Amino acid sequence: AAAGAGGEAGDRRRAAARVVVFPLPFQGHITPALQLAGALHARGELAVTILHTAFNAPDPTRHPGFSFVSVPDAVPEAITGGGIAKILALNAAMEASGHVRAALASLMAEAEPKLACLIMDSTLTAAQKAAAGLGLPTLVLHTGGAACFRLFRSYDMLHDKGYLPSTESNLHMPIKELPPLLVRDLFDPSKLPNKAIGQKILNLATETTTNSSGAILNTFEDLEPDELTAIRDELGHKGIPPFAVGPLHKLIASNDGGDTSLLNQDRSCIEWLDAQAPGSVLYVSFGSVAPVTQEEFVEIAWGLVNSGKPFLWVVRRGLVLGVEKQELPEGFEPAVEGRGKVIEWAPQQEVLAHPTVGGFWTHNGWNSTLESIYEGVPMLSRPLFGDQLATGRYVAETWKIGILLEGVLERGEIEKAVRKLMEGNEGAEIRERAKHLKEKVRMSLESSGSSQQAVDTLVDHILSL
Ligand code: UDX
Repeated sequence: AAAGAGGEAGDRRRAAARVVVFPLPFQGHITPALQLAGALHARGELAVTILHTAFNAPDPTRHPGFSFVSVPDAVPEAITGGGIAKILALNAAMEASGHVRAALASLMAEAEPKLACLIMDSTLTAAQKAAAGLGLPTLVLHTGGAACFRLFRSYDMLHDKGYLPSTESNLHMPIKELPPLLVRDLFDPSKLPNKAIGQKILNLATETTTNSSGAILNTFEDLEPDELTAIRDELGHKGIPPFAVGPLHKLIASNDGGDTSLLNQDRSCIEWLDAQAPGSVLYVSFGSVAPVTQEEFVEIAWGLVNSGKPFLWVVRRGLVLGVEKQELPEGFEPAVEGRGKVIEWAPQQEVLAHPTVGGFWTHNGWNSTLESIYEGVPMLSRPLFGDQLATGRYVAETWKIGILLEGVLERGEIEKAVRKLMEGNEGAEIRERAKHLKEKVRMSLESSGSSQQAVDTLVDHILSL
């Protein structure tokens, strides 16, 4: 049942309609979904219910303006593989149990305010099917960028034109239909241990978009103008309007992101940052799921030490494949001599906003990328899988606000790349462009900016459904 809190009673009187928002229960997806919910709610015409799994449940007390409905479905414990297998298993569990359908039916039965639609993560096919069965319209939330959205819809073309499956010899071939991408930047399902699963994950977002009444994208017009035009051209005439409403974490002032964190943030790093010189620190974090091997971990550690630059490094639990809590290499701490700090989880947005942070070594998860762009912090990109590969290419080639670290991770190469980003002429140009993009993103968030306008249009669209 809905656990209404705080502002709910007021909303019930005021709101013209209700929306249900259903995130995929992983950090990189929960955060933007709750931020979107916050922005819709802030417009005043919509009441918001967050539908969520008991697995990785958000904390209702941190979001007093929403009501929450929990479904008991979870990823079966037997599924220990990566995110893809978990998403498919979760959809299967939800379809079999019928809990989502029952939750939606009960919300639809409430008289006031009328339930207008379900906004769900683009991978949650089971939720869309449940809504369709009840005649409830759906909008899909794509937590990645427009380039990634377009890329994932281009897989038939990539196969037809022979780019995929990739081979040793075509990895550096440019994809002329999708510049600046190369074949090596594609997520190639045939390279996964289970090809069929890889193909299925690509199909999920395409299927849910096709069956939806609109697609919400966490990006902004000035960042991906060509990609958004292409998406509009493709979807517009099918009656599936796209809405570029990003970066979601700054759409409303109170969206500080910290309150959606599933892990405890170690704030001791802020005091440590305070004591560093302006623009001197490299912040290093690979998000919530991407793993590195033991060998890579050791090379990263010594590359950071040998760079001579101050660094703040997030070594979260599970970062190293097969290890719950990773020890630092022997001799690392004495060699660092206080020049570096290692923590398990950072208040990332606050770190990126800190004046002593001058660079971000990132895996280019989409949230991290937008957070970095917003603060004008240049990037050292080391994409690890999925959409991150394409984003890394855009950072280096399209926006030119970072350096792409490719090939085998090796301490000498890391040291060189860190120095290149943090000092020297090329680094200075990159920093300049990052500052320029920071101005553009901030303009898109002003009241007359493209993203705020897109939210207004989205609210009107929801009310018209
Ligand atoms: C996943 C996928 O890996 C990514 O490719 C996709 O684009 C989104 O979903 P994740 O790997 O967790 O996400 O990366 P990212 O999208 O960057 O999200 C990580 C979030 O965790 C960010 O909002 C970041 O601020 C937060 N974070 C990260 C912290 O709060 N503290 C940390 O120490 C590290």
